[in-house]
Amino acid sequence: MVALCSPVPEYAKGWISRICSRLRFGFFLLKDSEPKILSQPSTRPPRSKFFASLSISISFTALYSCHSVLGYVHFASYLCSLGVCLNVPMENLAEPISLRLFKTLSIVEHVAMAHVLSTSCCLKISSSKESYFKSSNDNFTSFSASFTSKICKSPVPRLVWQEKRLPRKCIFRATTLPANQEAPATQSSSGSLDASSELSKTQRVMVIGGDGYCGWATALHLSKKGYEVAIVDNLVRRLFDHQLSLDSLTPISSIHNRIRCWKSITGKTIELFIGDICDFEFLTETFKSFEPDAVVHFGEQRSAPYSMIDRSRAVFTQHNNVIGTLNVLFAIKEFREDCHLVKLGTMGEYGTPNIDIEEGYITITHNGRTDTLPYPKQASSFYHLSKVHDSHNIAFTCKAWGIRATDLNQGVVYGLRTEETAMHEELYNRFDYDGVFGTALNRFCVQAAVGHPLTVYGKGGQTRGYLDIRDTVQCVELAIANPANPGEFRVFNQFTEQFSVNELAALVTKAGEKLGLNVQTITVPNPRVEAEEHYYNAKHTKLVELGLKPHLLSDSLLDSLLNFAIKFKDRVDTKQIMPSVSWRKIGVKPRTIAA
Ligand SMILES: NC(=O)c1ccc[n+]([C@@H]2O[C@H](COP(=O)([O-])OP(=O)(O)OC[C@H]3O[C@@H](n4cnc5c(N)ncnc54)[C@H](O)[C@@H]3O)[C@@H](O)[C@H]2O)c1
Repeated sequence: MVALCSPVPEYAKGWISRICSRLRFGFFLLKDSEPKILSQPSTRPPRSKFFASLSISISFTALYSCHSVLGYVHFASYLCSLGVCLNVPMENLAEPISLRLFKTLSIVEHVAMAHVLSTSCCLKISSSKESYFKSSNDNFTSFSASFTSKICKSPVPRLVWQEKRLPRKCIFRATTLPANQEAPATQSSSGSLDASSELSKTQRVMVIGGDGYCGWATALHLSKKGYEVAIVDNLVRRLFDHQLSLDSLTPISSIHNRIRCWKSITGKTIELFIGDICDFEFLTETFKSFEPDAVVHFGEQRSAPYSMIDRSRAVFTQHNNVIGTLNVLFAIKEFREDCHLVKLGTMGEYGTPNIDIEEGYITITHNGRTDTLPYPKQASSFYHLSKVHDSHNIAFTCKAWGIRATDLNQGVVYGLRTEETAMHEELYNRFDYDGVFGTALNRFCVQAAVGHPLTVYGKGGQTRGYLDIRDTVQCVELAIANPANPGEFRVFNQFTEQFSVNELAALVTKAGEKLGLNVQTITVPNPRVEAEEHYYNAKHTKLVELGLKPHLLSDSLLDSLLNFAIKFKDRVDTKQIMPSVSWRKIGVKPRTIAA
């Protein structure tokens, strides 16, 4: 039950009522001290006596104004799900609430989003249809009831909860999936994978960041190949979209619907743990519960422009990425010391040196002495710097604790479909084209489809390694099937071809013209600080030696990408295409770049 303090804006009453009835919550409107019932309370019994007497005060000052309503309602949803009565001051609400968003969120997502906002409790979505609450001696995720703020420097909206009672443990379990089912193993695709297919049948792989672009495609691919897969994600990527008013070109289903759909098509179960890996208590529970043999770690803030928006996003990126990875390393050491860490790094860690880029290490002779040393890193954003620091932490823990790790220094990923995501619309992957999260080739295809000139930053000679998303999933599978040795810190450069930005623009122009599109290219001032003409030759042989069969960028792929972009062009927000973040103008003041 929710009690809303007056004055509730007129426009808000309708949708609050709809949301509450959809979520089966009752709520009261308190007006001039006269409670007025807008919607009857649910007849469900209170779920927890303890929570019913919880007293909470809330600070919403950190909520971004355009998402205040979202924050309120998610928080309310969460508390309601615990049976708590809540007082919310409504006077400062703006109207930008998106009803579409609410229609697409399931109750579990409301709860999960509230979790993201509060960042302190631990939520496991598991496979049964039993009640939400269990007593604390069950083997489910537990969390402390002392909800104090945990990520005070986060740009994620945060709530400060103060509890007057002593902290107590309770168990929260949200349920959407039918009973767990063993997935039959299928044949592997390459020589090296076949060789280890026996291993793959029993391996349990935790995909951190499995709701994201690379993670979702990888989770499905591994599940199809017979691995037991669990996704760990705090859904913060979806929250970034809401904050910045961005959206994927392709409509993407909620993580729960995605997993349900996968189960109904293939019979395979993917376990889901919703929570923040920066919360070590949560991570501990996921490790103890799932007992992974391998962890694939995609779960980071992965946009260089996002990290350069303002100070708070820079701090968030480094905190989220570095502390998250550090927690994963500690969890492996503490609970699964034989677990193989497959960590997604980036080719951007190397920068653009005027010599060939090796795979992780370089042998140097200096003053008559020779050593093989980590290849020098020259990161060019706070995001890339977080990846460099991750690599150092992983290398150190391999040496100090004997952890086995593979750092996949990935190039820029393009493409939409993998064999698995193409199986059903509910399985579609996200496709970012905006100036913050969009990667070059994906963005160019969308620009060509909607008649927007391709935006080349500066001279366009910036050269990078690229790969098809179908190769991302293949590379990860290869790394898992051929694990690093204990104490080994292995580095693979994960890309298949190099292109300059000008070359990509020329390829998209040619492919667009074949489809009858009039494709123009413009030069825009480069918002980044980077070399615009430079030498670039990066090695990438180790994954090929393990059996990678690359999908090279062909006319047919560009055709299909462009056709996808044309199919969804009504969803394109052209305001989001131009670069909006300047490396030089980053400041301390929080920015709302959608405004
Ligand atoms: N996409 C590319 O072109 C590319 C290129 C090179 C490297 N990479 C690396 O690959 C990884 C995945 O990239 P992507 O494009 O799939 O990104 P993405 O943003 O689509 O997915 C990342 C996922 O991680 C989750 N996440 C973030 N922080 C988390 C946390 N603290 N706890 C739990 N979950 C968290 C997000 O909610 C999201 O679902 C990143 O580490 C990125 O640096 C990507």
